[in-house]
Amino acid sequence: MDLANKVIMIVGASSGIGKSLAQKLVEKKSKLILLARSFDKLEKIKDENPNAEIDIYRCDVSDKTTVKLVFEEVKRKHNFIDMVILNSAVSHRMKVENFNSELAEETISINFLGMIYCIEQILPIYLKEKKGIIVGVSSLADNRGYSGSGFYCASKSAVTTYLEGLSVELKNHNVKVITIKPGFVKTPMTDKNEFEMPFLMDSDKASEVIIKGLEKEKRFIQFPFPTVIGSKIIGIIPNRLYEYLSYKFNIVG
Ligand SMILES: NC(=O)c1ccc[n+]([C@@H]2O[C@H](COP(=O)([O-])OP(=O)(O)OC[C@H]3O[C@@H](n4cnc5c(N)ncnc54)[C@H](OP(=O)(O)O)[C@@H]3O)[C@@H](O)[C@H]2O)c1
Repeated sequence: MDLANKVIMIVGASSGIGKSLAQKLVEKKSKLILLARSFDKLEKIKDENPNAEIDIYRCDVSDKTTVKLVFEEVKRKHNFIDMVILNSAVSHRMKVENFNSELAEETISINFLGMIYCIEQILPIYLKEKKGIIVGVSSLADNRGYSGSGFYCASKSAVTTYLEGLSVELKNHNVKVITIKPGFVKTPMTDKNEFEMPFLMDSDKASEVIIKGLEKEKRFIQFPFPTVIGSKIIGIIPNRLYEYLSYKFNIVG
């Protein structure tokens, strides 16, 4: 797909990968609709790109009513949104000693349900028009329960699994689903990690890889290559071996 002049929504565009993607899409001459809770950060992106077509909206994706209202406003303004990139997420590391179900509620309601609320708004239009691309940002950490990140991994497993089924269901409707699975990318989300992150990429490079994948309309956009291979191996080793190695070598994700 040529991204020039396409109307592209990024949900979770205020920092990290989403912000970097917005910048790259400005360079591609896409028309952008940017959503996040931090409206000031979206305003800054808009101010820094005075010649680009950028609409910004404050939106907390975990609030279904807000999502509905924001999409209604967007739909009034734009005839069609060619691509919706669902990127919002939070990640909390937690020790079992500090177990707190509120972190699970927050993680699942933003990372998974937030995505579902957005899909609920866009899907009827895509089904009616028989076109459109839904892009969901998952993670290479969707394949196992990494210690300390269980809620996050569970949320990303849910995202990947849900999008897999959706992709099949939408085949006959000419609506595409793209799943993005990054390895470690340097963003505010990972800046707080206290462990060493192998093959850490900067968000600029990550968004370049993502843009190339979006242009090719790849079903999966996964990177960087060594982490993809590593996660595939970790994903297929027997469960008991994984748990032993994970305990022995403190594998985290
Ligand atoms: N960085 C990595 O290593 C890595 C690896 C694998 C996957 N990912 C995935 O990549 C995506 C982007 O992450 P990132 O690393 O760029 O993190 P980030 O810099 O923390 O960005 C997260 C984005 O999500 C938005 N967001 C969070 N809660 C939201 C809410 N309730 N409603 C609306 N927007 C919300 C944030 O905006 P506001 O706070 O302003 O709302 C922000 O724009 C996420 O899905 C993450 O899981 C990242």
